[in-house]
Amino acid sequence: MTAAPSQRLFFALWPPPELARELHGIAGRIAVDGGRAMRVETLHLTLEFIGSVAAERLPSIMAAAASLRGEPFTLRFDRLDYVRRKAIVWAVCDTLPAELAALATGLKAALRAHCGLAPEPRFLAHLTLLRKVHQAPNLPPLPPLPWPVADFRLMRSEACAEGVRYVEIGRWPLAG
Ligand code: 2AM
Repeated sequence: MTAAPSQRLFFALWPPPELARELHGIAGRIAVDGGRAMRVETLHLTLEFIGSVAAERLPSIMAAAASLRGEPFTLRFDRLDYVRRKAIVWAVCDTLPAELAALATGLKAALRAHCGLAPEPRFLAHLTLLRKVHQAPNLPPLPPLPWPVADFRLMRSEACAEGVRYVEIGRWPLAG
């Protein structure tokens, strides 16, 4: 019997191109101390990591996303942080906009109700900038980088020559 093809999925917020370029520039400056900056087109904030699921579960995951009603908001990262255990540098939001907290909580609840998934209760808003950082780097203060968030996306992660690429498979507006 052939196993159903599976896909590695996650929900994410995708930065506008100019913000992605700014974040990538910051990552490049940190990378002079070591580590590998994420490619600019891969920068994102994970809302919910689903992992590998059979392709036939995709419709219920899309239905869960479509059932959500969210409001647009502006996201601001508070700081950069080096996570030695993971060898990464990420930008973190310590204080979540209420709309983002509601979106993350609502998405978890919808995935439980529609898809029988068991998402982690915790949500940590972070955007990974560098990987393979094996020594504590000098981290600059973050400039204000307001990020107007107007939608959220379902993405598929695929192996490719550069490592990994992310393919959008759904997008839902935050429009009340
Ligand atoms: P990271 O940036 O913290 O590494 C796509 O792989 C996204 O899903 C990445 O942003 C990654 O988060 C996150 N991710 C990958 N594996 C994960 C896991 N096992 N648990 C939670 N998030 C994961």
